[in-house]
Amino acid sequence: MDEYTSKTPTSRSLYKRAKKVLPAGVSYGIRYFQPYPFYTAKAHGSKLWDVDGNEYIDFWLGHAALILGHSPKEIVNVVNKQLENGTHYGTSHELEIALAEQVVKMIPSAEMVRFTNSGTEANMYATRLARAFTGRDTIGKFEGGWHGGYDALHVGVKQPFDLPESAGLTPGALQDTVLLPFNDLEGVEKRLKNKQPASIVIEPVLGAGGAVPAEREFLKGLREFCDRRDILLIFDEVITGFRLAPGGGQQFYGVNADITVLGKILGGGFPVGAFCGSKKIMERIDNVAFRRPHCSFHGGTFAGNPMTMTAGLSTLKTLEDGRVIRRLNRQGDEVRERLRRIFEKHNVDAQVVGLGSLFNVHFTKEPIGDALAVFRADKKKLLEYNFTLMTNGIFFLPTHCGALSSAHSEADLQKLLKETEDYLEENRK
Ligand SMILES: Cc1ncc(COP(=O)(O)O)c(C=O)c1O
Repeated sequence: MDEYTSKTPTSRSLYKRAKKVLPAGVSYGIRYFQPYPFYTAKAHGSKLWDVDGNEYIDFWLGHAALILGHSPKEIVNVVNKQLENGTHYGTSHELEIALAEQVVKMIPSAEMVRFTNSGTEANMYATRLARAFTGRDTIGKFEGGWHGGYDALHVGVKQPFDLPESAGLTPGALQDTVLLPFNDLEGVEKRLKNKQPASIVIEPVLGAGGAVPAEREFLKGLREFCDRRDILLIFDEVITGFRLAPGGGQQFYGVNADITVLGKILGGGFPVGAFCGSKKIMERIDNVAFRRPHCSFHGGTFAGNPMTMTAGLSTLKTLEDGRVIRRLNRQGDEVRERLRRIFEKHNVDAQVVGLGSLFNVHFTKEPIGDALAVFRADKKKLLEYNFTLMTNGIFFLPTHCGALSSAHSEADLQKLLKETEDYLEENRK
């Protein structure tokens, strides 16, 4: 702590200023950490620099959105060009068609797309669409699953699950949501025995829930269960989309969704969300074909804004052939394996989890198969590990999942391993 505070005096004074006008001094609660967050001055490639000039290798990557790193040249170029042609139209334009075509080309189950400004919004509209399409109210979501702050999905994210996740959530908003056990098909069937939900939403890898991958057999079983019971399966691929494979988690696992929710990487560093699916389902948003009360509403002032569309298109075209993603997945496997060996060598009970280019560490003996096991791990220790890394120039948003980008160099990864070794050596003394 002392080292951090002595290195970050300007951040400390910005925090004092911020607290007066931004609750907790931040724009998103999870960005706060004790004693105060550093404030970023600039970012480039794999690095962040704070206002005191400290340099950090960034494994947080703007909430795992920046798979090509900060401000990649090709994106800066297309965005600069778009700046000259208008930042926001509020009318239809070709770039939104081009990005939708690109999404349809890459995501196996997508035939039509609608864009939003965030993953939260996309999940909200996807849920509404599932309810409109099936004519049912009940929805299923998984323990530890994070789909953004939309009321009906803001349930069972953190333990204790019986305590509301937020003040201001009405019983009416939550009463139709059923909480399901992750990686446990029998448990899912049991909890839905006497229920007929419109949809079940799942992250192929629990992101905020601790970087816990779904087991392939579980996802396949869930797909079959949904088919059998006529339930729409929604994949929330806000994190896994365009990261695990060019076609997201569904391509990686070989299991298709009925509706896919996208975000983060899709925006190429700009605010975004999207939901997509078959023509038959997505057409329910067509307000020309379907009139009230049969049409499922979606819209927004900045939906399909050209800055995001051009940055997103450039990003997806870079990722389309799978080369970047395959390399990152290999590096992810290697980082996890090497971290595992380091913890083993030091006899520390730790589970290195994740999939593809996503990873995290949980300090526990127990194998991690769901978010409940993550909650049982030693969070204080993870906080201490992440904080030590931070004071030594490596940034993970404390306790949150890390991600790799094409901007990370071999030296960046070596530094992560070395600082982990040093932390464990220091801890042994
Ligand atoms: C899987 C998942 N879904 C949805 C969201 C919400 O997206 P946003 O923060 O863009 O609203 C997130 C955000 O982290 C996420 O990780």
